Amino acid sequence: MGDGRPRPRARSDRKDVMMEDWTPTSWRERPLAQAARYPDDAALRAVFDAMSVLPTLVTSWEIEALRDQLAAAQRGELFLLQGGDCAERFADCRAEPIVAKLKILLQASMVLSYGTGRRVIRMGRLAGQYAKPRSSDTETRGGLSLPAYRGDLINQTDFSPEARTPDPRRLLTGYERAALTLNFVRGLVSGGFADMHHAEWWNLDFAAEAPLSGDYLGIVERIKDSLALLETVTGRRLEEVRRLDFFTCHEGLSLDYEQALTRRVPRRTGWYDLSTHFPWIGNRTRDPGGAHVEFFRGIANPLGVKIGSGLGSDELLELIARLNPRDEEGRLTLIHRFGAGRIAAGLPPLVEAVRRAGKKVLWVCDPMHGNTLTTASGIKTRRFEDIRSEIEQAFDIHHAAGSLLGGIHFELTGENVTECTGGARGLTEDGLTARYESQVDPRLNVEQALEMALLVARRLKSNGRKKKGG
Ligand code: PEP
Ligand code: CO
Repeated sequence: MGDGRPRPRARSDRKDVMMEDWTPTSWRERPLAQAARYPDDAALRAVFDAMSVLPTLVTSWEIEALRDQLAAAQRGELFLLQGGDCAERFADCRAEPIVAKLKILLQASMVLSYGTGRRVIRMGRLAGQYAKPRSSDTETRGGLSLPAYRGDLINQTDFSPEARTPDPRRLLTGYERAALTLNFVRGLVSGGFADMHHAEWWNLDFAAEAPLSGDYLGIVERIKDSLALLETVTGRRLEEVRRLDFFTCHEGLSLDYEQALTRRVPRRTGWYDLSTHFPWIGNRTRDPGGAHVEFFRGIANPLGVKIGSGLGSDELLELIARLNPRDEEGRLTLIHRFGAGRIAAGLPPLVEAVRRAGKKVLWVCDPMHGNTLTTASGIKTRRFEDIRSEIEQAFDIHHAAGSLLGGIHFELTGENVTECTGGARGLTEDGLTARYESQVDPRLNVEQALEMALLVARRLKSNGRKKKGG
């Protein structure tokens, strides 16, 4: 860092040339949406300084490997699966929920690989998905108004002035919890746990009686048979399937947190946000003139942006121009989240505008965030059928436009929660209270997530057949 020695030229040199007017702090001059109001600037500064010298959570090598894979997904060679909690909780930094989440992501990715015949990029909304945008800055109960809960990185859920006041020490705790989570996940995926020879280790006990578990187990058996056959024919054991790549992502909402983990690295130029492999800009913070777009335009990582109703084609092209001015492959992922009732009107003009401008993006469907509704009794939920319908429509719209849907973004958990209605087991609104745990958005439970993966895989398989048949 800044030792004055000449650096070998790396590909991100190009970015430095364009980024003369950008610094890691230039976002501080722009309007900051969804800001947490810290009462004590000096305390925030102290935490920021402490974090700025701690080791980073991911490396630029991993980030560059991901960029190459996302570029391949853009070309239709790979498929992206993003999934995890709406909001990770510090208290869930425990072995069981992490293993369960990893299991369902591995299961879903295997089903998708089987359906697509394509390798799947696995990306968990984890190890940093701790900050949440809210529709209102405050929450009022019984005449008392307090700051809204903004995720464990910022404040606490309890409804008291102490709990709701943003506390900068939580940034440091978030960093530590992310590090613990990542350390555990890395150990699992690089060791025997990820071994495809033993995909049965990923089975979740309570999912054994799930209505579609037979379909899943059939796929596992077929994959194991194919592996065994290949190993018999080649006469060697396929070591490559014993470990796998796994990437992390989160919404880059707290720019204090992201900036503290943004560094230059040896032998590359440009600035990397080393809190995660893939940060994304949320639907509420994607103002092209706002602080979040300013910060992330200067970051070397591949980026996501959530887009939905209310975004015009011109504004989308402006966002693309700011975030990917050189039209680099693998740099920009557009994650659309319209809702089953709005995607048919909302998505086609955006796909057409991007196609006409000839811009390289990876299109991903988030079928969750446009489909949130509140039941008569006041419970936030999502219907399995709406989620499924949005995915089906997304495939149709991209297909009709000569574009490609290259990934899916789910909110899911590895546990047997009751937060979304529907699915093969037919969970009803009355059943939602049995095990509703999310503090923010409702997630697919493990059975619903697997069923959704099976449906997407089936759809991708039939797309593949259509293509081959002309
Ligand atoms: C989220 O992903 O949890 C989220 C808040 O999404 P969006 O920005 O699309 O509303
Ligand atoms: Co959410």
